[in-house]
Amino acid sequence: MMDGSLSRAAVTDARFLADVLAGLSRPDRTLPSKYFYDARGSALFDAICELEEYYPTRTEMALLARHAGEIAAFAGPDATVVELGSGSSVKVRLLLDRLTTPAAYVPVDISHDHLVQSAARLAADYPGLAVTPVSADYAAGFDLPVGTVPERTLAFFPGSTIGNFTPDDSRTFLAGLGRRLGAGSRLVIGVDRKKRRDVLEAAYDDARGVTAAFNLNLLARINRELDGTFNLGAFAHRAVWAEAQGRIEMHLESLVSQTATVAGRPFRFAAGETILTEISCKYTISGFQALAADAGWRSCCVWTDERGLFSVHALVFEDR
Ligand SMILES: C[S@@+](CC[C@H](N)C(=O)[O-])C[C@H]1O[C@@H](n2cnc3c(N)ncnc32)[C@H](O)[C@@H]1O
Repeated sequence: MMDGSLSRAAVTDARFLADVLAGLSRPDRTLPSKYFYDARGSALFDAICELEEYYPTRTEMALLARHAGEIAAFAGPDATVVELGSGSSVKVRLLLDRLTTPAAYVPVDISHDHLVQSAARLAADYPGLAVTPVSADYAAGFDLPVGTVPERTLAFFPGSTIGNFTPDDSRTFLAGLGRRLGAGSRLVIGVDRKKRRDVLEAAYDDARGVTAAFNLNLLARINRELDGTFNLGAFAHRAVWAEAQGRIEMHLESLVSQTATVAGRPFRFAAGETILTEISCKYTISGFQALAADAGWRSCCVWTDERGLFSVHALVFEDR
């Protein structure tokens, strides 16, 4: 059952413009990765999940399928499942199929139309479940349905999307999430692990160029929505493993010396200059547990695959 009262605190054009102008005005240029996800960006992300090189999705899906019974026991009966960055709401089905009488599903995503469509599909497939999509930037805060009880709340944050925050920002975000959900709430979170450079870089720079299209789509979105003049053929996708920071960085590299405008504001790019568009931090298991503990989340369990590619953590928020 789809709840009609879609809560919407989504991104405004003014916020998008302000963030783009601020990011491009910095000496080390950046664009926030959350703006990848317009309708085309969301579809391209789903295509990335199908790629041979992109091991995180299939590895996390296998872990969730294998441990769904344990996750259901961890969540307990009558849980309200709050999914952060729910995308196409595919992985959560593995949990919903095993939870004991789940009370509600609250998908939270910034990609408004994609969220509404995915939530409607899920509601049709789970007729007894109250589905309440929340269109919001989860880092800016969002409302939970009235009557949500901390001890029966399971937050679900798959996809290693937490890696898009720096470790400091992750700590702040997780602490804020815990305070929002309340003491006793539970979190199941997918976290990508550190591994060989070649495996990591291939995952973010596939042979078919889908990730390149996903990265370049950000410039196409700026052209379309913010009256930009980026020449997409004059920028190239780059993905590099930055060992010292323990993160993959996605950049757009200017191939020539050029000027692009956004809403009439000119930005000059030297040949070889890059815009950082996404970071994806990778963690050891103990490193992530320590970060989560600093944010008030006690580790209850962690599951990983035989090849040590990915981890799924189960945590409880403790009032401190
Ligand atoms: C890497 S994808 C993961 C999708 C899905 N959870 C999965 O595991 O396959 C990130 C998702 O988070 C959403 N997202 C990214 N930043 C967000 C933000 N700040 N607030 C809300 N949603 C966000 C995107 O729209 C996208 O659906």
